[in-house]
Amino acid sequence: MSGVVNAGGLSMGCDDTGPTGHDSAVVFLHGFPHRRDFWAPQLAELGAEWRCVAPDLRGFGDTPAEPPFGMDRYADDVAALLDALGVARAAVVGLSMGGYVAFALWRRHRERVAALVLADTRAAADSDDARRKRRALMKLARTQGSAAVAESQLPGSLGKTTREADPEGVETLRHLLEAAPVEGIVGALEAMLARPDSTPTLATIDVPTLVVVGRDDAITKPAEARAMHERIAGSRLEIIEGAGHVSSFERPAEFNHALRGFLRGVPAVHPTG
Ligand code: MLT
Repeated sequence: MSGVVNAGGLSMGCDDTGPTGHDSAVVFLHGFPHRRDFWAPQLAELGAEWRCVAPDLRGFGDTPAEPPFGMDRYADDVAALLDALGVARAAVVGLSMGGYVAFALWRRHRERVAALVLADTRAAADSDDARRKRRALMKLARTQGSAAVAESQLPGSLGKTTREADPEGVETLRHLLEAAPVEGIVGALEAMLARPDSTPTLATIDVPTLVVVGRDDAITKPAEARAMHERIAGSRLEIIEGAGHVSSFERPAEFNHALRGFLRGVPAVHPTG
């Protein structure tokens, strides 16, 4: 199914693919300023084995930009979507901003979380400098629109290998970023700059966890991924060679391989149990 679902009163754009009729799934939470299509390479492949759910977070894709915005709000939206779809428990895969949402989901709805995949993300809150940059980006979005935001985000998002050897991939990501609505961009920036420090959350995570990062991720660097991995008991760390900040998009085969290997060890979300 690809369409719009009433999630607690919010019309959420969502893909729900793979084996149906199971009350467990793998849920994919996109980054900033993406939308659910970002996960197409994962749904195409993993949908053969798992029920896969990919929502548009509030303000992106087919989900309207209805305030308020905040990580807790996004997490509550995802929990309401799981209710609407009849998903009791999920392995939650969050990339970058999607990882910030995954932390909030863990804090607020942990009974729904069977496993976590934290991809190209960080636990720390924004520094003062990062908040200043977020406010400048809000201004850019309001004055010059989504294309200007896409232009400013694109170079840092992709690793050197992708930038130099995959012009088609660069253009695909550019189009995805350019399609983000200004209100969604501004709302997400507000949510990110106000988000709490999730470092204390790491020690509370007691479900199987995979931390993934692109070797050339310049935004959430491998050192930060390693630090998260060291604080989450029993977690696994995978570094994706030749990828930057959007490792699932840049190196889908390698990312999917790591994800599949991890998910096969989480019987709670596998349709065959
Ligand atoms: C993302 O990819 O979601 C962003 O880089 C997250 C951020 O700006 O902190």
